[in-house]
Amino acid sequence: MVDTRSAEPRAMDLTRPAAARIYDSFLGGSHNFGVDREVVERIGGELPGIGESYWENRAFLRRAVEFMLAHGVRQFLDLGSGIPTIGPVHEIARRRTREFRVVYVENEPLTVAHSRPLLAAEPNATIIHDDLRAPDSVLRTSQVRQFLDLDRPIGLLMSAVLHFVPDTDRPAELVEAYRDALAPGSHLLISHLTDSHDPAAMQVLTGFYMESSDPMHPRGTSVVEKFFGDFEQVPPGPALLSDWRPEPGARDRPTYALLHGGVARKP
Ligand SMILES: C[S@@+](CC[C@H](N)C(=O)[O-])C[C@H]1O[C@@H](n2cnc3c(N)ncnc32)[C@H](O)[C@@H]1O
Repeated sequence: MVDTRSAEPRAMDLTRPAAARIYDSFLGGSHNFGVDREVVERIGGELPGIGESYWENRAFLRRAVEFMLAHGVRQFLDLGSGIPTIGPVHEIARRRTREFRVVYVENEPLTVAHSRPLLAAEPNATIIHDDLRAPDSVLRTSQVRQFLDLDRPIGLLMSAVLHFVPDTDRPAELVEAYRDALAPGSHLLISHLTDSHDPAAMQVLTGFYMESSDPMHPRGTSVVEKFFGDFEQVPPGPALLSDWRPEPGARDRPTYALLHGGVARKP
C-alpha cells in the first residue's frame, strides 16, 4: 500500500535555525548561518559534549551504508538527507563501487538549494525537493523512477529524520507505506532520538529545537523498533547507535545516550 497523502510545502525561513543547518554546524560544515551557530553554541553550553551525538549518528549512517554495500545494495533513497557534505552517502558508496545511485529527498528549500551545486558534478546522485510524509509523491516522482529501480533492492535511509514527524502525521503508517513499496532484499535504516535513556538531556535538546523550524518528537525505543515492521533485523538489532556494529577500537559511547536505531532487511 502506498499512502496518497500530500504534504504542505515548507516555506523558506531564514529567521529561525533549521535542523539541517544545526546538524551541519555541529559537524563543522560551512552551510549554516549566524542564527544556527548561535543556537548550536547555546545547546553546547547546556549539554557539554552534545556534538558527539551528531557524529555518532553520522558514523552509524556510514557503517550502515557500508554494510548494505557489502551485501549488494547499490541504490539508496535517503529521506531527510540534510546537506550532503561531511561524509554523504554518495561518497561512501563511491569508495566501494562506481555502480551506485543515490536519490536524496529534502523538504527544506534552502537545504535543497545548498545541495544542488554540491551534486552538480555527480552523475550518480541527485536531490529532489519533496516531503517524506507524502510517500506516493516521493516514490512516483520521475527522478526517483529514472534513478532507482524499485523492483530491485534499495537501501531506504531514514536517518535522524522520523523524530521530526509528529504523531499526528502517523509516522508508523508512513514507514509502512515505504516498507511495502520495497523489493525483497531491500534494507531499511532508521536512527531516531529517544527519551528512553536520558530523558533530562533529551528534554533540554527538544526545548532548543522548539525555537527552530524543526520541532522534535523523541520516542521510546520500543516505538522506534516497531517502525521496522516484520523486516529481519541485522545483528545486533536495534541499539544505541554507537553499539550498532562498532568498528574495532572505536571510541567510547557519547556523553548522552540519545540515539537509537538499526538496519533491517525485507525478506
Ligand atoms: C538531522 S538532519 C539528518 C541528516 C541526515 N539524514 C543524517 O542523518 O546525517 C534531518 C533532516 O531531515 C529533514 N526533514 C525533516 N522533516 C522532513 C520531511 N518531512 N521530509 C523531508 N525531509 C525532512 C530536515 O530538513 C533535515 O535536513
